[in-house]
Amino acid sequence: MALLATIFSISTLSSVNMSAISEKYIHELNNPQMLDYGIYLQCDKLLSCQKALDQLATHDELQFQLVHQVEELWMKQIIFTLIDVIDKMEQAKSIAVLSQMKRVHMIQRLMIQQLDLLETMSPKEYQEIRLQLGNGSGQESPGFITLLKMPNDIWQVFQEHYLRARKQSVESIYDTHFSHCDAYAIAESLIEFDELMQKFRWNHMFLIRRSIGIDANSLKGRPVEILQNGARQQFFPELWEVRSKMSDSWGKQNGKIRHSLRQKS
Ligand code: HEM
Repeated sequence: MALLATIFSISTLSSVNMSAISEKYIHELNNPQMLDYGIYLQCDKLLSCQKALDQLATHDELQFQLVHQVEELWMKQIIFTLIDVIDKMEQAKSIAVLSQMKRVHMIQRLMIQQLDLLETMSPKEYQEIRLQLGNGSGQESPGFITLLKMPNDIWQVFQEHYLRARKQSVESIYDTHFSHCDAYAIAESLIEFDELMQKFRWNHMFLIRRSIGIDANSLKGRPVEILQNGARQQFFPELWEVRSKMSDSWGKQNGKIRHSLRQKS
């Protein structure tokens, strides 16, 4: 309790030392105008999903909550889009699959970029926010939990409708019968999803390094280091393997180690 009291006296947004200008804008933030735009978007609900401004542990806590909430909203959009991707794959509507996957990739890139915002927090102030989290963990993120489940179903649907139904294999669409066909283009869109999931997890590791340090334990007492296993997870291993197999077979035909171009001339 004593610690919390100290934190609150140092860093919360109290009106005691606030200028008239600051007070005016804090009042606006606390009382959003609800015209048609606000009513349609439910801005009153949306803008009250964060802690009250005078209850924040530090100035940075608002950004901390917002980044997590925005990431959760983006994951909602990704999941909803992937549901459509599955439906469209079942109907072999390849152009629709590709255009929806493009949207997914764009959101994934936004999600990766947005993590960097939290690197603007000082490690000291983050510790004050961390005291607010109970033993909460990003591994409990509802969006992330669902996202981890979806690739397996997507892969089953892809195999059924784009490979087995057409008597094709990953090897044939990438190598022996390569023609830049729709199955190949969709496979590439899946590997891009996979790569961006890994990049998100690696970027998140860097964020942890900057804020609490890689040698720390999570609030559940687990070493943070084990997150590296997740960052190495491949959702579509066959799409990664096919490249290595192709390189091996090219190596067998053309020699694994090549002579320098200078030696030839
Ligand atoms: C300063 C900022 C952050 C810190 C210090 C942090 C720290 C951590 C730690 C320690 C874990 C491991 C938890 C455990 O073992 O139970 C974790 C997991 C996770 N966090 Fe964060 N996190 C931060 C920001 C974020 C943000 C903005 C997101 C947005 C979605 C996020 C999403 C996740 C996810 C999805 C996991 C599970 C990762 C996996 O299983 O690979 N984190 N985080």
